[in-house]
Amino acid sequence: IFAAVEMAPRDPILGLNEAFNTDARTDKVNLGVGVYYDDNGKIPLLAAVKTAEKARLEAMPPRGYQPIEGPAAYNTAVQNLLFGKDSHLIANGQVVTVQALGGTGALKVGADYLKRLLPGATVYISDPSWENHRALFESAGFPVENYPYYEPSTRGVNFAGMKAKLEQLAPGSVVVLHACCHNPTGADLTEAQWSEVVDACRERALVPFLDMAYQGFADGIEPDAVAVRLFSASGLQFFVSSSFSKSFSLYGERVGALSIVTASKDESARVLSQVKRVIRTNYSNPPIHGGAVVAAVLNSAELRQMWEDELAGMRDRIRSMRTGLVENLKAAGVAQDFSFVIQQRGMFSYTGLSAAQVEQLKNDFGIYAVSTGRICLAALNSRNIGYVAKAIAEVVKA
Ligand code: LMR
Repeated sequence: IFAAVEMAPRDPILGLNEAFNTDARTDKVNLGVGVYYDDNGKIPLLAAVKTAEKARLEAMPPRGYQPIEGPAAYNTAVQNLLFGKDSHLIANGQVVTVQALGGTGALKVGADYLKRLLPGATVYISDPSWENHRALFESAGFPVENYPYYEPSTRGVNFAGMKAKLEQLAPGSVVVLHACCHNPTGADLTEAQWSEVVDACRERALVPFLDMAYQGFADGIEPDAVAVRLFSASGLQFFVSSSFSKSFSLYGERVGALSIVTASKDESARVLSQVKRVIRTNYSNPPIHGGAVVAAVLNSAELRQMWEDELAGMRDRIRSMRTGLVENLKAAGVAQDFSFVIQQRGMFSYTGLSAAQVEQLKNDFGIYAVSTGRICLAALNSRNIGYVAKAIAEVVKA
């Protein structure tokens, strides 16, 4: 049965890890995947997480099945973070939240549910978008198209193009929006532009699907939720996928959530019952540990403060790597203005490096980046930043 199976290409992002891990060079640097490393090049275990884990270890809780949708303590904590603890939507019972296997798992549950709900819809993603968006919605059976987003000449958003496209979409089209820290470009909408997107979604009866994997990595938990808050105030129904992979440094625990805003408490009950069917036939119910740790941190005033301080520390270090890279590139003799790197938000910089230049970085220097020119600033540190800047200087000169 396997004789005719073809070799699939490596994943454009996670496949880089596979290649990186087999690279024997000692000065290699992995700027591919969106993972935060500390200045020692290590993935941190946050102190707030450590404290919550210690308490769990001491309690040695039993490992029964979880509810299909995950525990209420977790789902409520997620809702408070996304919608604000005083949200009228939460108070009215208009938000359905289910624990999911990371942000990807949340997108997949949402996509599978949407396919049952709107089988004839087309899904629109930004141009460019996170590599997995297209594959994920296509695998759920949707045709996937792009709306204009990034404008290379300004290194910003082509908002006029984006809006014009949204205003032409067929009613019931699904629009995937990066709620903050756009992946891969780092170019976000302003609050005023978000309001116009909300209006376009209302006028065209679109189905907004906000993907929020980096809350806290631009300006902070509350300011980074601006898009979710504007949609919340709009009276529209929408989807939000969210992730604690980056903000809690819990990548491999796969801790995320899917939230769906409905028109009423009664609708919520019916929607939840359907989403539970999607989950039950996929992985039955979510794993315990990661979600329990996140809930313990978010539901304790002391641990939550500790976590917010640690998150701010990650955010600040990435910012200092942005300025550091620009300075180091200058020092390495690069004439081209790279100051846009400082303006971009989140973990990534869309450098403008070509696929050939990225290939040369890998071959000549053992520096791995996504072929689109996306680099992860959170993988830079005080020891490798000079090396990376010199390598980039070499490939842009060539
Ligand atoms: C990324 O874009 O690098 C991250 O979201 C990790 C992933 O799953 O691709």
